[in-house]
Amino acid sequence: MKVSNICCIGAGYVGGPTMTMIAAKCPHIKVNVVDINQKRIDSWNDPDVNNIPIYEPGLSDLVKKTRGENLFFTTDVNQAILDADMIFISVNTPTKTYGVGKGMAADLKYIELCARQIAEVATSDKIIVEKSTLPVRTAEALRSILDNTGNGVHFDILSNPEFLAEGTAVSDLLNPDRVLIGAENTEKGKKAQQALVDVYSNWVSQERILTTNVWSSELSKLTANAFLAQRVSSINALSELCEVTEADVNEVARAIGTDSRIGAKFLQSSVGFGGSCFQKDILNLVYIAQTYGLQEVADYWEQVIIMNDHQKRRFAKKIVKTLFNTVSGKKITLLGWAFKKDTNDTRESAAIYVADYLLNEQAEVTVYDPKVTSEQIYSDLNYLGTRSDEENRRLLKVESGPMKAVENAHATAVLTEWDEFVQYDWKDIYERMLKPAFLFDGRMLLDHEKMKQIGFDVYTIGKG
Ligand code: NAI
Repeated sequence: MKVSNICCIGAGYVGGPTMTMIAAKCPHIKVNVVDINQKRIDSWNDPDVNNIPIYEPGLSDLVKKTRGENLFFTTDVNQAILDADMIFISVNTPTKTYGVGKGMAADLKYIELCARQIAEVATSDKIIVEKSTLPVRTAEALRSILDNTGNGVHFDILSNPEFLAEGTAVSDLLNPDRVLIGAENTEKGKKAQQALVDVYSNWVSQERILTTNVWSSELSKLTANAFLAQRVSSINALSELCEVTEADVNEVARAIGTDSRIGAKFLQSSVGFGGSCFQKDILNLVYIAQTYGLQEVADYWEQVIIMNDHQKRRFAKKIVKTLFNTVSGKKITLLGWAFKKDTNDTRESAAIYVADYLLNEQAEVTVYDPKVTSEQIYSDLNYLGTRSDEENRRLLKVESGPMKAVENAHATAVLTEWDEFVQYDWKDIYERMLKPAFLFDGRMLLDHEKMKQIGFDVYTIGKG
């Protein structure tokens, strides 16, 4: 079977970039990206490609080349379903905030709504592709919905989790370490799997396309994220030990990482991992293990989250302790709000929790981030529910430039590793701040010796 029309439900951080890449590499395939969020779709269609809703290096150029050729963004979900041979489901799967599994399980209501809509609308056979990250055995639930409410058409279900990292989405999609495609073990399932292999084969070499059964594919995505996050928590756990033993966590990381069995990546100690995926996926893994009665397995993975929460809190506490045990009424500037550089995504960003902690200590927090809007910053804080929107707006200020942000600050804390932070005139920053000028580097980004020479009191993670 040859795919000529693809629909993707969900025009977010995954749906947008992945479909843009498919459109760019498969000019013979028409790709419709649909979403119920009109504002988001309008932004994707903004005549100025710099206004697309997601910031990723290289993405706007790719959208410029393909949009209106074979890539379309629309809210007409039904029409796109009708026209498609293959439908990717790329909607959000956040942690449940209510009912059974609250705070741990993945909320699958958006997935289920998609399945019901597809079943209701489709009048011809379709291949359904799980692109969202889903708990293992979700395909079973999808099959049950599709087969029991449909118009008698046949659906094949594939699992094709996405491994892109925000900030490097375009290059990850262009050169993926692997593409994973899980299929049902039936003749039709295998044919559907081959159809998706053929799509990726337009630019990904065969040996990088892994085919498995659906359950392995679903579980691999959750566990890949758990392994990555585990490395961060492992090095962060060591960072605290380094601080009390005068070992240097960077030196330890280098020494560990040069062992080829371990490898050097993901051993950077920091204020803690953020992002929409790691925490939610590990919590989901913990929940799944619990539901199968595997308490030791659940406890093992939960520790990764406990360590990460500890690291964020520890950093914020360090600021308070260093500023003579009180930050009440003191201006503290946070450089960076995004959860990592080169993205405007702030979900679960460490900065949110550090700011919240400092606000509880009555600090006057000021934030500057090159790509995150002030509305997003307030919305992130409000989401925690610690205080009212009004209070958050009164207590936390957002500045549109770094120099204004650091003016008269008692302390500056680097919370995102944006490249531009390294380039700043730190002597000028020092002069603008109150003395003693405290600098907390939560990303180990700056040249600390140089900062000390300028006059800063420098505090970083993982060094005594
Ligand atoms: P997102 O929140 O940016 O985008 C999801 C979009 O789906 C939203 O725009 C929402 O309006 C739309 N949507 C929800 N229900 C809909 C419906 N019934 N019909 C049409 N549109 C609907 O989420 P994101 O970050 O793209 O994540 C999507 C999935 O991909 C999640 O399962 C996530 O775990 C997974 N993932 C995310 C990665 C990331 O880096 N953000 C990386 C790999 C996987």
